[in-house]
Amino acid sequence: MDQTTYVGRSFPRVDALPKVRGEAEFPGDLVMPGMAYLKVLFSGRPHARIRCIDTSRAEALPGVIAVLTARDVPVNEYGISEYDQPVLCGDVVRHVGDRVALVVAESEAIAEQARDLIVVEYEDLPVISSPEEALAPGAALVHAEKGSNLLTSFHVRKGDVAEGFAQADVMVEETYTLGSQEHAYLQPDAGLAWVDEDGCVVVKSAGQWAHDDRRQIAHSLGLPEERVRVIYTYVGGAFGGREDINLQNLLALAAFKTGRPVKLIWTRRETTIGHHKRHPMRIRHRWGATRDGRIVAQEIDILADAGAYASTSAYVVASTVLLSTGPYEVPHVSVDARVAYTNNLPNGAFRGFGVPQAVFAAEAHLARLADALGIDAVELRMRNLLREGSLTHTMAEVPPGLSVREVLEAAARCAGWQVVDGEWRRPVIQREVRPGVRRGIGIAAAWKNVGYTLGYPEQATATVELHGEVHVERAVVRLAAAEVGQGTHTTIVQMALELLALPPERVEFIFTDTARAHSAGSVSASRMAFMAGNALRGAVERARAAWQDEERPAIATYTYEAPATTPLDPETGHGKGAFAFAYAAHAAEVEVDTDTGEVRVLRLIAAHDVGRAINPQVVKGQIEGGAIQALGWATTENFIMHEGQVLTPDLSTYLIPTVMDVPPHFEPLMLELGQPLGPWGATGVGEMPFLPTAPAILDAVHDATGVWLNGIPLTPERVWAALVASGWTPQPRE
Ligand code: MOS
Repeated sequence: MDQTTYVGRSFPRVDALPKVRGEAEFPGDLVMPGMAYLKVLFSGRPHARIRCIDTSRAEALPGVIAVLTARDVPVNEYGISEYDQPVLCGDVVRHVGDRVALVVAESEAIAEQARDLIVVEYEDLPVISSPEEALAPGAALVHAEKGSNLLTSFHVRKGDVAEGFAQADVMVEETYTLGSQEHAYLQPDAGLAWVDEDGCVVVKSAGQWAHDDRRQIAHSLGLPEERVRVIYTYVGGAFGGREDINLQNLLALAAFKTGRPVKLIWTRRETTIGHHKRHPMRIRHRWGATRDGRIVAQEIDILADAGAYASTSAYVVASTVLLSTGPYEVPHVSVDARVAYTNNLPNGAFRGFGVPQAVFAAEAHLARLADALGIDAVELRMRNLLREGSLTHTMAEVPPGLSVREVLEAAARCAGWQVVDGEWRRPVIQREVRPGVRRGIGIAAAWKNVGYTLGYPEQATATVELHGEVHVERAVVRLAAAEVGQGTHTTIVQMALELLALPPERVEFIFTDTARAHSAGSVSASRMAFMAGNALRGAVERARAAWQDEERPAIATYTYEAPATTPLDPETGHGKGAFAFAYAAHAAEVEVDTDTGEVRVLRLIAAHDVGRAINPQVVKGQIEGGAIQALGWATTENFIMHEGQVLTPDLSTYLIPTVMDVPPHFEPLMLELGQPLGPWGATGVGEMPFLPTAPAILDAVHDATGVWLNGIPLTPERVWAALVASGWTPQPRE
């Protein structure tokens, strides 16, 4: 490893002191003289035609500045991948969180009162509550003009699955159902917008990609992008939930229309209803293997619920498809995937971007197959893992930096697996720890693409200024990366200091402000450390060259472009979907209460090849946070929609893990094997820790009880029902 001063150290987080001192300004803290308050009227109906909207009583209320409806929106559409969402609905509402009207008033109380005085007459339309219903013949259309509820589909063919199945001695088929997930970021959505002295609409809020927020806001206001400025304050979590804009365009519209600074804070319920969720999916796997444990065929069918609008669904499910086989080399593969519109809340980005679902189903199925073959699950994986030069199902050679064997071995050994007579063996543990409580150990491996990939032009721009006369006395770094709590600013500071060879007090950093920094892309897809590091390298190199040429100050802007990828071919599904994968393996030890169905995770082992840890403590934080968030998805988090209505709109009905659910033993194992394309060898770590946790827990529940479950979350009810169905009877206890 190269000698470094700042890189590789657990440098104190640059946002730590302002946060613990309470000085950090979050969107809810923003104030401005003369500001007005905004309230949003949501539809509350999953699918309905708007007959008329009567705003007269709201407008007449003293203190009301404006009531805005669809006719007040210059270009009434927005959306991250397609402009398919009305800013304010004037015609049809397609989910309960659709926005119908805005009230701007002198106080929040007046705004709320006026909102409740708006009368909307609806004609209810049939509610599509699942993708199965959406795709049934004669189903009502969520978007009449699209002519179908099918948002998109994917088809991948490698070899010939029929031939593969003909070679198989054992065939296993199961269908896995995966629940939705709410991001539950700590900071409810909020922001402040105003029109500045140059006539520019400024929106100060939280998000993941300020320049893309600006694009969407400018589009719906009918303004050139230069007339909109997006600034991020400190951000209280995102996890993909702030990838789509949620209230930024509403604030911008209100400020633009009234000329007043306008403030909006959503309640927890509004925050939950107002942004997208993780895609629920149904994934069917049919695999064939030879007796000696060679997987010869995989047939995979994926059905995903897009919810009411496109959001990032087409990209999320493309990622599910790309990683759906698991990190294995199989000669004959077919994958079919469909994504359908429904009248549920839109589904979109959430840590892992469709890959947690892919990994869960593949790993759960591998464990089932191992069981059917009587081969240890680690041993079966080892026999089928990708190797250098392997072709994935999309007929792309596995990119450099393959380390799945190393992470799986690290997790397996740490959890007690041993090689006996040349074969991996699961540790033998005492299963019944006390009456009615059984213990088990499980394991899973994972892979994920770094960056959006799949043909998306992946780039990041950084600007570096070197100031001084004889020597560089100070530097300015401009890089619009959103710090959403993950530690990216600290990581960027460390990389920049390393490259500039300057102490921290002599470098000024300008992060997320579209007026002061170019786009570095989204903090998404585990991409920012990788992309920012490479952008900084280029910018510092160019600024140095300008300095050599006697430019004072020496200023350089550099755009790093990641190696090109391709979308999956619509016919064959072939394509170079990714330029880099990252790998992880987790092992879990659980206790299952066989009387109540309760699952408790006692120990988590999380092995990751992080390439190079720019800041080991930040990486460890990501590993712990990601795994615990996945533990929630796997066990307690049950986001329920029924007939288009959200039944779990708050944190007392939607249960995220608390400190009491965190396993008492958590062992992150950081391997630093070096990603060839990464800065100092670093690879993406933001999403990877989410991936193998849930299937490891599922495997452990089976190890404890002998019962396989086919879906998550593993709520007590679901586990109990599965235990009872397979013959367990509650035992009398003291
Ligand atoms: Mo993400 S789920 O790519 O923010």
